[in-house]
Amino acid sequence: MRKNIVVAIDGYSSCGKSTLAKALAKKLGFIYIDSGAMYRAVTLYFIRNEVDITNEADVKDALQHIELNFHSRDYESHILLNGEEVFEEIRQMPVSESVSEVSAHKMVRHDMVKQQQRMGKSKNIVMDGRDIGTAVFEDAQVKFFMTADPKIRAERRFNELVSKGDTVTTLEEVFENLAHRDYADTTRVESPLTRAEDAIILDNTELTEQEQLNFALERVEPFLESS
Ligand code: DC
Repeated sequence: MRKNIVVAIDGYSSCGKSTLAKALAKKLGFIYIDSGAMYRAVTLYFIRNEVDITNEADVKDALQHIELNFHSRDYESHILLNGEEVFEEIRQMPVSESVSEVSAHKMVRHDMVKQQQRMGKSKNIVMDGRDIGTAVFEDAQVKFFMTADPKIRAERRFNELVSKGDTVTTLEEVFENLAHRDYADTTRVESPLTRAEDAIILDNTELTEQEQLNFALERVEPFLESS
């Protein structure tokens, strides 16, 4: 039985996993780890270095040259790729368009899962992603599976891009990208996105951030008392 508390938050792209994870971590004083940022940073490295994803030796070599670290600031999970802050760049469309392919690669997943398990070995954490409750921490004390209406999700992600100064991406492109990633994430061979049997479903289409936080806190609090 693990002594530290792990909260696993899985679900579709852009349905508010990281917003809830951050709020929960802040409220509880846990460490927040954005596992998607790890796959995105690897994807950025692959793009920059023109790594051929179909070439096993290339992928293996590239992974050996990638060091990922997080530094926490205000419960944002800022990722460093070989020491470089890439927080903004990994959210841009070129990475979003390639990340499904890269994250479906067996060797990439194996490497990321190992690192994620190390991060959650002894500290209380909230980790969000696609396979946290099913593969990374099957023994997490609390698991959430988040969903929301696809149209609402696209609008949220689109507004986020616009607020960061993106003037070229259209709402349709964002919608298509999300649909593509949902399909790729749920149908891939290596740990596809699926709800763990013991995960609590949280559909936030009509919930405010505060309501989602309250919902999650209620489920986590019993474990605080017994730890
Ligand atoms: O959560 P996100 O949108 O930043 O994740 C980016 C991509 O990484 C997503 O399309 C699927 C992949 N991913 C994954 O396969 N497993 C995870 N645990 C987290 C993300």
